[in-house]
Amino acid sequence: MTATFALDGVARRYTVPGDRPWRRVPRTALDGVDLTVPAGRDLAIVGASGSGKSTLLRLLLALEAPDAGTVRFRGDVVTPRNPGALRRDVGVVAQDPGSSLDPRLPVGASIREPLECLAVPGDHGARVAELLDAVGLDPGVADRRPAGFSGGERQRIALARALAARPAVLVGDEPFSAVDPTTRGRLVTLVGDLARASGTQLLLVTHDLGIAQRLCADVAVLDAGRVVETGPVDAVFARPTADATRALLDAVLRVSVG
Ligand SMILES: Nc1ncnc2c1ncn2[C@@H]1O[C@H](COP(=O)(O)OP(=O)(O)OP(=O)(O)O)[C@@H](O)[C@H]1O
Ligand SMILES: [Mg+2]
Repeated sequence: MTATFALDGVARRYTVPGDRPWRRVPRTALDGVDLTVPAGRDLAIVGASGSGKSTLLRLLLALEAPDAGTVRFRGDVVTPRNPGALRRDVGVVAQDPGSSLDPRLPVGASIREPLECLAVPGDHGARVAELLDAVGLDPGVADRRPAGFSGGERQRIALARALAARPAVLVGDEPFSAVDPTTRGRLVTLVGDLARASGTQLLLVTHDLGIAQRLCADVAVLDAGRVVETGPVDAVFARPTADATRALLDAVLRVSVG
């Protein structure tokens, strides 16, 4: 079966301000990344801050073009000018929950937008209410704008929007980070259930290894712009081979009781 995503030799470089106002220095955010995401295998992408996770997602989503290499979605090369089926089949939750939502639109209209753009059959108003309820918000809030919500609430609304059209793939950059631990547990379960019910494949960046293990079959570990380890999440966490994976596992805070 054709892989959902396939990255081949992908590199991405930025220039950033240097030690003098007129100097720009190159920074390599991703370097020679080969990564295959088989259809039907949920993938967690983990790695330290600055390791290139969000950059990898922007390239996967064809929001940016790589400086080298190719990104394929279901076998077709995708670029910002030619994203092919990506925009239709992939729901996205950005790292900053605010940026997934148009500040001028009532949140109900934001959730409804993908249903309208993709001409999804059915009662859109009812679907919006059902999604708000599913993410633990009162459907009555649909008329309010994003500014009237907390960060965690906006993140839940962004999730509702991303899942509205039952996308084939849900790509999320830390989609659970802004919510309190209790709500997070419920949301993680909910997203897992919704994804299973609609056959949606998950591709999630997360700092939380527990979430990676709970929701995803596979994990890819990024370190300084390279994929240093991939494999089934249980096997990788039980027997890590890369230093970066060991460091992530060692950093998990353990709660001791008694
Ligand atoms: N638009 C940009 N311009 C300049 N540098 C960038 C840009 N985007 C990313 N970088 C740099 O690329 C590297 C990877 O950044 P990226 O945001 O992908 O990391 P990340 O793994 O998502 O980190 P975090 O866990 O903190 O979100 C960093 O060194 C970052 O400073
Ligand atoms: Mg990031």
